[in-house]
Amino acid sequence: MNGFIYNVPTKIHFGENAVSHLGDELKNYGKKVLLCYGGGSIKKSGLYDTVKEQIENAGLEMFELSGIEPNPRVDSVREGAKICKEQNIDVLLAVGGGSTLDCTKWIAAAAKVEHDAWDFFSDWADVTDALPVLTVLTLSATGSEMNCGGVISNPETNDKIGRLAKPLLPKVSFLDPTLTYSVSKYQTACGSADILSHILEVYFAREQDLYMLDCVMEGLLKTVIKYTPVALQKPDDYEARANLMWASSWAINTFVTGGKQHEWSCHPLEHELSAFYDITHGLGLAILTPRFLRYCLSDKNVGKYVQFGVNVFDIDKNLPPMEIAQKAIEMLENFLFNTLGLSSTLTEIGINDEHFALMAKKACEGATLQGFVDLTAEDIEKIYRMCL
Ligand code: NZQ
Ligand code: ZN
Repeated sequence: MNGFIYNVPTKIHFGENAVSHLGDELKNYGKKVLLCYGGGSIKKSGLYDTVKEQIENAGLEMFELSGIEPNPRVDSVREGAKICKEQNIDVLLAVGGGSTLDCTKWIAAAAKVEHDAWDFFSDWADVTDALPVLTVLTLSATGSEMNCGGVISNPETNDKIGRLAKPLLPKVSFLDPTLTYSVSKYQTACGSADILSHILEVYFAREQDLYMLDCVMEGLLKTVIKYTPVALQKPDDYEARANLMWASSWAINTFVTGGKQHEWSCHPLEHELSAFYDITHGLGLAILTPRFLRYCLSDKNVGKYVQFGVNVFDIDKNLPPMEIAQKAIEMLENFLFNTLGLSSTLTEIGINDEHFALMAKKACEGATLQGFVDLTAEDIEKIYRMCL
């Protein structure tokens, strides 16, 4: 394996009432706060009032950007950046799920430049600076609360593009599992499918890995498999929500990545699905991941599937390797589609093969996706077809 740098200095306040420290933390970053949130779940839950009170009691001035969409759009980034510039905002506060957090991160970058926000994605414009971002997470899924990534959609061009940039890393994130009690069964399931995928994208690696990191990933996978059904059954189960929340952060804060160089596979394929059809990210991943694993399975890499099946799903290690591998994929499908209750095909969610060729080409940028197994546009199109 390759050497690596691990440097994720996001300060985390974890636990019930974590938000009681919000005012004190915000004060460290200036006087004018832009509160960014989504379609209103924080108003329904009462979190908006709590946050507002924290900001006011800290003697700070609050501005607002509401209505950030799931699969956030570049127009929201533009709108937020405009407010930042006009009002001389000092610090951004994102309150919501991954979409709100991602959008807020890119507002923080766009506020510091004169060019259009989409240039960060279409031209890969430099990200050298950003306003400080603090987050209050309300949905366990993306890990955006503890990483420097953000995914933005441009419906005009059918593009959905994710990008990492160090200045976007949240300074402080507040993780109160009770704030996720109100997340619907569907979003809870999709969130867990997303967490699983973040781990599997790394776990199924080309190179020999650190045993220690594989064990951590297996522990995270087992955590999601154990606690998601509990949260679905009893949405206010603190232990379940807390385990899912902390697992979501650690699945994708670069810790488990170690020195792995290979590209992710299911995420680029999924981003095309949500770019063209605006579907929920975790649902797209749930449909794609088992098909991707089945497509990539070969005598050469069956060992990794065996490790996954035996260590995560407790499959009998004495069975023939290919049988274990097939069984592991079936158990993953069973978890996603039966236990979590997610739709199992693209057809079920109204997607046909109309755009598959173009989506496949875009997913591998016209070349080869160098993930667990090299995938050409032709391979990717076949995987999409397996999902029909
Ligand atoms: O908009 P509101 O009203 O807040 O409602 C949201 C939204 O409708 C709702 N919700 C959130 N918290 C809630 C709640 N409803 C009730 N109670 C609560 N406590 O849930 C819906 C979905 O929210 P969203 O933020 O879209 O979900 P998620 O956290 O799954 O974020 C998905 C986005 O993140 C990107 C995805 O591509 C997608 O655009 N990703 C970001 C990553 C990153 N930054 O590292 C990595 C991921 O792989 C992913 O690509
Ligand atoms: Zn994801």
